[in-house]
Amino acid sequence: MASSCRATVKTVGNRTGTSTKLLGLKFTNPLFLASGVMGTTPGGLKSAVDAGAGGVVTKSLGLEARKGHSSPNVVGVDCGYLNAMGLPNPGVEYFTEELSKVDVGAPVFASIFGEDPDQFAKLTEIASGAADGIELNLSCPHAEKVGSAVGTDPDLVERIVSKAVDATDLPVLAKLTPNTDRIVDIGRAAESGGAAGVVAINTVSGMAIDVETKRPVLGNVTGGLSGRAIHPVAVKAVYDLYEGLSVPIIGVGGVETPETAVELILAGASALQIGTAVATCELSVFRDVDRGLAEYLSQEDLSLEDLVGLAHRN
Ligand code: FUM
Repeated sequence: MASSCRATVKTVGNRTGTSTKLLGLKFTNPLFLASGVMGTTPGGLKSAVDAGAGGVVTKSLGLEARKGHSSPNVVGVDCGYLNAMGLPNPGVEYFTEELSKVDVGAPVFASIFGEDPDQFAKLTEIASGAADGIELNLSCPHAEKVGSAVGTDPDLVERIVSKAVDATDLPVLAKLTPNTDRIVDIGRAAESGGAAGVVAINTVSGMAIDVETKRPVLGNVTGGLSGRAIHPVAVKAVYDLYEGLSVPIIGVGGVETPETAVELILAGASALQIGTAVATCELSVFRDVDRGLAEYLSQEDLSLEDLVGLAHRN
């Protein structure tokens, strides 16, 4: 395990436990597997739960199976990864059928992407057959016509969310892009459309150039940066959204230690997603961060609920 992933908090006091109720669902802890990592098969989702994830999000699903961008589609950079996968997935119908055969062991959010409100409604209806919640991908930074292409216009976001909400009884989350100066406006639009919560943030737009070949490294030229490098961007986005919204915020971006988790919760996150650290810190990251979070709460004699947004009150 990379040393930067290690917990440094100590146990003091006796208040423990990070189980939480959110969005009408029960979670053994507030640390969920983020979309895009291990979520291409139900078996991968179950492995994350077995390793300690309190909830999981599937790889983003579209109406049709899709191959994604040409490789290289992931490259390691300082403090994170750049990816331009291009939303490869087996299609929502196939995945939903497969998911219905597996007891994953924790709430599953189906991440979906589409080009317009009608596509999102159809995807929501199909995915609701096997999931416990829906996450709308309004934020992939490197795909044409979908992701942030539909997620940076607040009016369109409100219409997409509203159609998705009408198509299901499950909680609908909107995953927001940091590649805008209007993240709070977009979050408010999602809330007006009926979103049960927002997820912040998706990857930060970026690229890498090979100094020997003198060419862009990624097959798609540009991609999205994830991991520890974007943690401060995520903290600010969650902090700003907490000021502007009433619905719960799921924080994501560079969570790999208890301290990074606590920071996002202090900013206003009610739960967190972990993606890149599953690769950089191993799958034990869920248990390691949860243990450290429980110890921090005990040490501070606070509940998880007390901690959410505390930086705004101090
Ligand atoms: O390209 C991808 O599959 C990544 C999706 C995303 O960033 O949402």
